[in-house]
Amino acid sequence: MSTVIAVTGKGGTGKTTVSALLIRYLVNAGHKPVLAVDADPDSNMPSALGLDDSKNLSTIGGTRQDFFDSKGEVPPGMPKEAFLELKLNQALVESKNLDMLVMGRPEGAGCYCYINNVLRKFLETLGNNYPFVVIDNEAGLEHLSRRTAQKVDYLLIVSDYSMNGLRAAVRIKELSQEMGLNVGKNYLVINNAPDDLSPQFNEAMVDTGVPLLGILPADENVPRYDIGLKALTDLPDSSPVVASLDQMAWALIHENK
Ligand SMILES: Nc1ncnc2c1ncn2[C@@H]1O[C@H](COP(=O)(O)OP(=O)(O)OP(=O)(O)O)[C@@H](O)[C@H]1O
Ligand SMILES: [Mg+2]
Repeated sequence: MSTVIAVTGKGGTGKTTVSALLIRYLVNAGHKPVLAVDADPDSNMPSALGLDDSKNLSTIGGTRQDFFDSKGEVPPGMPKEAFLELKLNQALVESKNLDMLVMGRPEGAGCYCYINNVLRKFLETLGNNYPFVVIDNEAGLEHLSRRTAQKVDYLLIVSDYSMNGLRAAVRIKELSQEMGLNVGKNYLVINNAPDDLSPQFNEAMVDTGVPLLGILPADENVPRYDIGLKALTDLPDSSPVVASLDQMAWALIHENK
């Protein structure tokens, strides 16, 4: 059974950074291969993981659209489902310690029900091949139920050092409950934080009702790597955000042991 960790939060709070560094931790700790799922249509994970150089990066959304547009035409003698599964498999980017699926754009107008059913089964079966699945999400939550509809063991809600970030975290927690999302545990992660948090922020953090998993410091290496087009997974152990994230990730995956 794989452990599914989904990372969500308000826009720009550090979802992709946290996802990439979590994957870095899991790989280095030997929990590999990791399946990285980029569920943000404005895909950022390939560059954060250093997997953006693979040619013809195809997306699940593109595969679904192509299949829909072809009206289910398949090579002679090949069952429709097997053909679609083959195409979905081709969208899997494989590397040494981690594989990546880029979900891409959501479906357009029309009934994609058959394709989505095959896709759901494909994602469930695929996920079982990995000890950990890490999903980087777009801001908001609707797509989580729409696209994967599978259990999420840990929903990490990322906030920056702002009241707006915390308010968004509360809305996301409420929305996930309203949608009946199958979440094991919600956790709050504060990212890009100063050394000292104000008493009001500490109080507001507690008031969210979401248990705090960890506080990650602002780290100048993160924008430096981003601007230098370097993979965040290559950040050194000595980087402050890496040290904090590693501690946080260790606590998360050992919490039930
Ligand atoms: N701990 C940190 N220290 C310094 N800068 C950071 C830190 N975490 C993230 N950043 C910077 O903040 C910006 C947003 O980070 P990131 O892309 O991870 O957020 P996101 O939530 O995935 O954004 P989006 O909603 O656009 O997908 C980036 O420019 C990144 O370099
Ligand atoms: Mg992102």
